[in-house]
Amino acid sequence: MDKYQDILDKAFEAMENAYAPYSKYHVGSCVLTKDKKYFIGANIENASYGLTNCAERNAIFQAYSNGYRKSDIEAIAIVSDGKTLATPCGACRQVLAELLEKNTPIVLSNKKIEKLTDIEELLPMSFGEEDLR
Ligand code: THU
Repeated sequence: MDKYQDILDKAFEAMENAYAPYSKYHVGSCVLTKDKKYFIGANIENASYGLTNCAERNAIFQAYSNGYRKSDIEAIAIVSDGKTLATPCGACRQVLAELLEKNTPIVLSNKKIEKLTDIEELLPMSFGEEDLR
């Protein structure tokens, strides 16, 4: 996992900016582009709970908002301060399936456990753009 230490470190830094007064569960994320740009995100909650934005969605939306697309993305890290790994929720898996290539590395960590995965493993047989053709 040494290869991903930079995005893990940046994701843990972003986690410090989580706004999570309700769950008190802090998540950070960092997207690395192939031209070595970093885009971070943290979870931002709302009193109307359903309006919460997850960390990984904020990070990848930042990358896309800056003009990057799936083929430009090298890897994404998602980290938390929980006892278990913060594996992306169902909504985030659908978003990542749209915005990442199937085999883009997704690195998960909570400092004790680390796992390398990809969206093909997290959301097999997903519904996507090709189904609408
Ligand atoms: N959360 C994320 O930001 N990413 C994940 O992968 C799992 C869940 C957030 C949403 C909410 O603010 C808190 O964690 C508890 O669900």
